Amino acid sequence: MTDILKDKFIGLGVTGSIACYKAIDLASKLTQSGASVDVILTRGAREFITALAFSSITHRPVSEDMFDPKSELSIDHVAVAERVDLIVVAPATAHTIAKLAHGLADDALTATILATGAPVLVAPAMDAHMYGNLATQENVRTLQRRGVTIVGPATGRLASGLVGKGRMVETAELMGWITLALGKTGDMAGRKVVVSAGGTQEAIDPVRVVTNNSSGKMGYAIAEAARDRGGDAVLVTAPTALPDPIGVRVVKVQSALDMQKAITAEIDDADVVVMAAAVSDWRPVETADQKIKKSASNEWTLEFTKNPDIIAGLPSDKLVKVGFAAETEDLIANAQTKLVSKGLDLIAANDVTATDSGFATDTNRVMLFDREGGIEVVPLMSKYDVGHRILDRVKHMFRQGPNDATSVGEDATGEGD
Ligand code: CTP
Repeated sequence: MTDILKDKFIGLGVTGSIACYKAIDLASKLTQSGASVDVILTRGAREFITALAFSSITHRPVSEDMFDPKSELSIDHVAVAERVDLIVVAPATAHTIAKLAHGLADDALTATILATGAPVLVAPAMDAHMYGNLATQENVRTLQRRGVTIVGPATGRLASGLVGKGRMVETAELMGWITLALGKTGDMAGRKVVVSAGGTQEAIDPVRVVTNNSSGKMGYAIAEAARDRGGDAVLVTAPTALPDPIGVRVVKVQSALDMQKAITAEIDDADVVVMAAAVSDWRPVETADQKIKKSASNEWTLEFTKNPDIIAGLPSDKLVKVGFAAETEDLIANAQTKLVSKGLDLIAANDVTATDSGFATDTNRVMLFDREGGIEVVPLMSKYDVGHRILDRVKHMFRQGPNDATSVGEDATGEGD
């Protein structure tokens, strides 16, 4: 399972806001991800944008008017409501939010939402004063109480010229929420997945650190993959330039010792730990309280002491342990040695000198080694897809059942290999 949106039906409600143009991008991203997108435009939206703009992207009919005899909804007014796996209203005006809060059904969109059993996401877009108005705030809260997910709005420059809270969130953020909502019943549901990422930083003084070239991309992608399969994903990350993934709990740390402490605090109820972080093996013996001044001498020696091996020290009775081996030579032998010496269930080995699978790239080419001597060569693919390949293996290794009785068990969906 590498693509949660594939073969899903998504209802995309678009209402009358200048942020309509962002809905085109969203429709495009959803379609590219393999979803069938049923767009419903309100009368207000049609003042800003045409049905043709959407149907050219989605290659599907767009619903505009329930009472139009050419519309699918005039024949079966709940057709979209029943078909969809999820409905997103983006952008959602104050007016549509008010109608939804009061259960009105005077157009194709509100009637569809009233009739659906699918989860609903609403991304408000409006003037900051309209959003802040008590009426809107109460409507938003009413929807939240009924289980609707409100995404945003973000703070920024608004169409009115005002800077405030009212901008529709960006497509990437919405995509995160959509996959999160769809993934709730995946094979990681009821599983706590702890992932580490980034290169730890070992402080020399308040302004200097010893670190490495890890970008954090691999660990972030694994956490996102776990989230998209319904997992409770926790990302323990050393400093990176990456944005916090939506729907993943992020714990920020700096040094190897910080990371060890944070991971130890998370693993009691965890099912699996994936150590994708590049942990510094050494730290300076002493960290100076003040910035170290340039001395008269031309040489400077820094003394290091060994950091603990975090994953080797974690218990393996209840926890599946997955490590990475970033190597520049003897990939296979080094990976197999680490698998045994660190007590791992699985290790993903990659050659960090390759241009398409190194630290900062979006792709990776790994080999997976397990305890039984199995070797799986995973071809070049996105780090997100590598994350799924790892989880495809992990789901058969869990020591105990999922925490949540309502979740779908690994065997119910277990055709991911
Ligand atoms: N690791 C860890 N704690 C450390 C060092 C590494 O938990 N102090 C984890 C890494 O996150 C990774 C695996 O161990 O999952 C292998 O890391 P790597 O840097 O490849 O190996 P090292 O054990 O550091 O060995 P070497 O640097 O000698 O290759």
